Amino acid sequence: MANNRLAVKLPGLELKNPVMPASGTCWYGQEFAQNFDLNVLGSLVIKSTTIQPRDGNPKPRTTETTGGWLNSNGLQNVGVDQVVGAKLPWLATNFPQLPVIGSAAGFSIEEYVTIVQKLNHAPNINAIELNVSCPNVAHGGLAFGTDPQTVEELTKQCVAASQVPLYVKLTPNITDIVEIALAAQRGGAAGLTMINTLTGLSIDLNTRKPALGNGTGGLSGPAIKPMALAMIHKVRQVSELPIIGVGGISSAEDVLEMMMAGANAVQVGAANYHDPLSCPKIIAQLPTVMDFYGIDNLAQIQGAQF
Ligand code: SIN
Repeated sequence: MANNRLAVKLPGLELKNPVMPASGTCWYGQEFAQNFDLNVLGSLVIKSTTIQPRDGNPKPRTTETTGGWLNSNGLQNVGVDQVVGAKLPWLATNFPQLPVIGSAAGFSIEEYVTIVQKLNHAPNINAIELNVSCPNVAHGGLAFGTDPQTVEELTKQCVAASQVPLYVKLTPNITDIVEIALAAQRGGAAGLTMINTLTGLSIDLNTRKPALGNGTGGLSGPAIKPMALAMIHKVRQVSELPIIGVGGISSAEDVLEMMMAGANAVQVGAANYHDPLSCPKIIAQLPTVMDFYGIDNLAQIQGAQF
């Protein structure tokens, strides 16, 4: 490993650095690959996959807010058969060394299990996120991710069906995220990804209607970083599961902050909307910023520092 001061090892994932684009912010990598060499990434998380292809929610689906973005894509995606038959093979052919994380979003436990089984057929899937936290669909998503018993059972059945480690992606739209984190842990999750977006609303003063076609959307970006940090830190106090931190990261300093709160790796989401080169820029900045703060390697700051 060329620069192993950035290296991070997680279940299923030997990462040369801890930075990966969050699900839905780089789709299947094809557009990003026109801007930079995807091999610089620690990993890449593909867009959440449902059984059937989905056209998504009514447009507009994204709007900028103060300090963040609202999205309501409605789990738009090409469906699991296309993902396994075309999108993942494209990544495997063009970036055979890149660890890829799948993402499953079902509307019943059975659907999650089927998606996990199908994603397991792709040779380049190293781990799978169970997205039980999409705020933009009427069924599934939050309805699963806010109920501890459902999260435990769903995780348990998916773990039994999977040959690769599973990470459960948690919603912040709940009173106590710890309950759901512990439910995922009891279900056998290998790790947690946290946090997904917070439900928000933006109103167009001209039309006097919501700016997004679906009404509400999920808020991401710098505005949510303090909440992500607080929730990661809270979960870190009660669980030793690896945490992939996500929520408002746009600089190498943010990466270190999230790791000091208790994360083991990070995902970059909304920053990719502003600048598709965010991930490579953050990765390139990391050694200099680590030098500045006297950090020799990331292992030193993994897990809670306080
Ligand atoms: C969406 O597709 O609406 C966003 C996915 C998510 O927030 O999990």
